[in-house]
Amino acid sequence: MPGVVIVGMQWGDEGKGKIIDLLTRDASMVVRAQGGNNAGHTVLIGEEEYKLHLIPSGILHENRQCMIGGGTVIDPKVLLEEMQGLIDRGTQLKGRLWISPCAHIIFPYHRVLDRLYESSKGDRAIGTTGRGIGPAYSDKANRIGIRMGEFIRPDLFKKALKSVVEMKNRELVRLYEAEPMDFETIYKEHLELAEKLEPFVSSVELAVDRAIRAEENVLFEGAQGTFLDIGNGTYPFVTSSNTTAGGICTGAGVGPSAITHTLGVIKAYTTRVGNGPLPSEEQFLDPHEAREVGTTTGRVRRMGWFDAVLAREAVRLNGVTSLAVTKLDILDSVESLKICTGYSLDGKLVDEVPTVAEDYARIEPIYEELPGWRSDTHEMKEMSDLPKNAKRYLRRIEQLCGVPISILSVGPDRDQTLILEHLFTQKAASY
Ligand code: GDP
Ligand code: IMO
Ligand code: MG
Repeated sequence: MPGVVIVGMQWGDEGKGKIIDLLTRDASMVVRAQGGNNAGHTVLIGEEEYKLHLIPSGILHENRQCMIGGGTVIDPKVLLEEMQGLIDRGTQLKGRLWISPCAHIIFPYHRVLDRLYESSKGDRAIGTTGRGIGPAYSDKANRIGIRMGEFIRPDLFKKALKSVVEMKNRELVRLYEAEPMDFETIYKEHLELAEKLEPFVSSVELAVDRAIRAEENVLFEGAQGTFLDIGNGTYPFVTSSNTTAGGICTGAGVGPSAITHTLGVIKAYTTRVGNGPLPSEEQFLDPHEAREVGTTTGRVRRMGWFDAVLAREAVRLNGVTSLAVTKLDILDSVESLKICTGYSLDGKLVDEVPTVAEDYARIEPIYEELPGWRSDTHEMKEMSDLPKNAKRYLRRIEQLCGVPISILSVGPDRDQTLILEHLFTQKAASY
């Protein structure tokens, strides 16, 4: 069965949006499985730049079914704005975009609590996106969340919201000495939003199952990255969903047997937004020139060298079958490139990411150095066109990760891509 999972292998922003858009040419359905509008996926099509937060990056191809799965958390106002933005630019959504009734809703109290928790944490502050993601997933785990299926049923929604707002106000006022929230205001505003979203709510899970049984090509779109996974990431400096391939299956409502290929998207170097350890951190390029400015919050991303310890661990945690290496072109001007091949902690070699953040912060990276290529790779169409040192760098990445590269990206545009292996085997590939 032709299901391809696309997963970020670092701390997010690996260029998943571009790769999903590209692979959608051969898919009939794209499913976003987890996360919320903490994600920001930039897709460049010629002169047109699209910034997507919740809507699958496959939406820019006509006729493809786009699903927002039950593992996501949805800020209804933000989703409607994103939908309107696409409609205004000529994208048709009716009959193409569907939202699972199992997805959870982000309410204003989640956003307020996100900020209050962060400001109470001192040096354990995560540097969240402030979008209410953590508090919404906490409510889901605590079984007081409100799901899309309930949100669009005014009577049920009213009852659930009233009870939760009372609980949240006790927390806001007594614990944080903050202003209480007004139930009526939230209810009225959200009733309108729910009405607008109602026509898009449908059983995504059933539709995905049908597509898979009919042997259609289905893409499962991961948001964030492996090391932001709530369970396997660099806790506590993580997001609140399971961002790895298993979490993507759960969030989409499919079993692992639906997946034939797990494509790990990885930058040719490393970046991270927000707090937490980044062992290979070094500002070796201007972040603006490298276009390392966040899509969602506009924060400058921290940069570092390619970290093969992280990459190997991401291969293991996701069962990655092949790599999509992105942003190779950004390294075009770098004279000498470092690759972190191992970690040392208190003088001892460590072969995996330490589970305790304090240990991870003390890691010393072990580097090997490779010569740069100092030439422009933007226009390269074949591996054989690439400068010798770029090929050498990529071969070393493959060797260290233990899996082959099937896609290489040398620029933000669709055309700036080298396809080395076709992932969907069921139909003739058209790229
Ligand atoms: P995502 O969150 O994983 O989808 O990644 P983002 O969209 O947040 O960040 C990746 C950025 O790099 C976007 O601005 C993309 O347009 C851009 N990008 C993707 N691939 C390439 C590439 O190969 N080269 C360059 N220069 N930019 C790229
Ligand atoms: P995409 O899909 C990069 C980071 C935040 C913060 C941590 C927790 O574009 O790759 P949260 O708001 O989720 O509670 O913040 O996770 N973060 C991301 N970093 N790319 C993302 O998504 C991210 N989504 C969350 O910066 O450090
Ligand atoms: Mg992003």
